[in-house]
Amino acid sequence: MTDSVSDWAVDYDIFDPAYVADPFSIWDDLRDRCPVARSPRYGGSWLPTRMADVTEIARDIEHFSSREITVVPTDADSDVLPAGSPPIQADPPVHTWTRRLLLPWFSHSRVATYEPYTRDLCNQLIDGFAAAGSADAAADYAQQIPVRVIGRILGVPDDMSDTFTGWVRSILEFAYDQERRIAARDEAVTYFLGEMERRRGGDGDDLISTLLRSEVDGEQVSDAFILGMVGLALIAGADTTWSALGSSLWHLATHEDDRKRLVADPGLLPVAVEEFLRAYSPVTMARIVATDVEVAGCPMHAGDRVLMNFPAANRDPDAFEEADRVIIDRAVNRHVAFGAGIHRCAGSNLARMELTVAIEEWLQRIPDYRLEEGSLVTWAGGQVRGPRSVPVVFP
Ligand code: HEM
Repeated sequence: MTDSVSDWAVDYDIFDPAYVADPFSIWDDLRDRCPVARSPRYGGSWLPTRMADVTEIARDIEHFSSREITVVPTDADSDVLPAGSPPIQADPPVHTWTRRLLLPWFSHSRVATYEPYTRDLCNQLIDGFAAAGSADAAADYAQQIPVRVIGRILGVPDDMSDTFTGWVRSILEFAYDQERRIAARDEAVTYFLGEMERRRGGDGDDLISTLLRSEVDGEQVSDAFILGMVGLALIAGADTTWSALGSSLWHLATHEDDRKRLVADPGLLPVAVEEFLRAYSPVTMARIVATDVEVAGCPMHAGDRVLMNFPAANRDPDAFEEADRVIIDRAVNRHVAFGAGIHRCAGSNLARMELTVAIEEWLQRIPDYRLEEGSLVTWAGGQVRGPRSVPVVFP
């Protein structure tokens, strides 16, 4: 790990255990005295904390490029991922056509077809621990769901899910450990190149097979782009949703009134899910300054990195009343957990379905649960924040 932080305004580190444990008080402090913080760590970056600044940057694709979206520079990736991970790691025009190829997979109507599988999966997982009276709501449940759903969309066997989870954690949660990240990246690339070879020329209806047959402007999409899109679908589709689900289940384990209210009124769940997404937003992406620009009086220079702090924007008191309170029936909730502008999450319909179904099934089968006394809840940080272990007990 890195040295501990002395002043968050000029030396923040989003991997620091203090930031992972409680980023909220750090953002509140920064918003008051230095709304766009600066840090020399990992090659240097800026960290906005106000909704107005975060959304301004997200929408300004002229000055802020998505060609690099990680906090830790990943220059070494270009050898094995020559097209990067589009659309998230691309600017127009590549962004436009790669996003268009992915969007149909996550439309409302397509997502509805994944719901029965998701519901069955949730119940099978609960069957595995219901009788025991205890479970790890993060590791035994939240972590198991999105990776299997995205695996099904990709058309890969269910038994790959633990391997996928390991890759995703090494790439995101342990990004500061270059050796670990690169080893996982290489394994994932080798695996997906193999899967592409197996499916080439076939008529499969999974995402990989369909991308292999797709054409843009009369030309076949090259392997480099397909590899990038497939890898992104796994990374974006797994850790993000399992983190949001883990946080929601943790909240309900620690806030009895909210849990009882949702058990009594499951119809409120979609509104509560939006509030969980706002209050416990998992995702922070980066941008690279394309040409010099000023934001909130800060002179940003070409090549500087900026962290799109969607989670902090969602706690900005100028944007939300009682921003630090979780209000599960919040009426107006224009959160940016899924980002803003042209890169807004392509999988938000899928994420919302998974969250709603998984919480609904859990509360139906385990309406009364709480944290296990004396046990340790652990959180993962970095660019995707969420709990890794939430030990709970239920009568
Ligand atoms: C709670 C769960 C999720 C959250 C909070 C989330 C959040 C985000 C955010 C903040 C962005 C914008 C990144 C940026 O501006 O650079 C994004 C983009 C994206 N997300 Fe999600 N996401 C979630 C689930 C998913 C799922 C399930 C998928 C399905 C594969 C997915 C696929 C994508 C893709 C493809 C993009 C890139 C869109 C583009 O660049 O045009 N996400 N997501």
